[in-house]
Amino acid sequence: MKPIFAANWKMNGSLESINQLISSLLSQSLNSIAREVIIFPPSPYLLHTKKLLGNINWYVGGQNLSNFDQGAYTGEVAASMLRDLGCGYVLVGHSERRHVIGESCELVAQKFHKAIQHKLIPILCIGETLDERNAKETYNVIDKQLRSVLDLPTGAEILSKGIVAYEPVWAIGTGIAAKPNDVANLHGYIRTWLLENKVEDVPIIYGGSVTPDNAHELLLKPEINGVLVGGASLDANKFMEILKCIN
Ligand code: PGA
Repeated sequence: MKPIFAANWKMNGSLESINQLISSLLSQSLNSIAREVIIFPPSPYLLHTKKLLGNINWYVGGQNLSNFDQGAYTGEVAASMLRDLGCGYVLVGHSERRHVIGESCELVAQKFHKAIQHKLIPILCIGETLDERNAKETYNVIDKQLRSVLDLPTGAEILSKGIVAYEPVWAIGTGIAAKPNDVANLHGYIRTWLLENKVEDVPIIYGGSVTPDNAHELLLKPEINGVLVGGASLDANKFMEILKCIN
């Protein structure tokens, strides 16, 4: 399993800033074979970003997709459209979509399924809020978020084709990352949960205030199969330092 480095640009950037960011990343040498690098630009910039990446074996992915195939759903982006633009991956259930936009676990599960149907690899984002953490609800939240996909018909098969990103909501964009030991324990819990439900070989990555200062220690843990980077991925030097945390 290659370590995964995912860059979630969220709703940031412009043609000009993306040109600069990608050219600065590509100007530095990196053994791309050893890593799975996936860039998640805002959807209007997907094709442009893909073109800028040229022949380098990095992927682009959507930050969201519709649970419908096509039709009268103004503003939505279909899985088939993401495929058309050359996406290999899609984020599903990012905490900002769950907690700011209000997506339910059921909707997230439908989107996960839609991604699989269209041969996109979904990255299922799960994690507890600060209140849930303080109320010692973390495991229950994780169970519920994973179970919504598992409970789909042939759920174990569907879930085993994706990636899980543990992203505690209190760590996202706050500068307070979860401690590597705590992340490793949580990932161990998720791994056991998956195996008990016959879901094998799913990478489990961590997101939430990943920076060049903490990425190395996180990635040293065998339970952590990669990182999902938000803020630091908008800075070419910081993202490159994170990429270089492994040889
Ligand atoms: P952050 O975002 O690195 O800025 O905390 C991570 C994410 O939202 O995926």
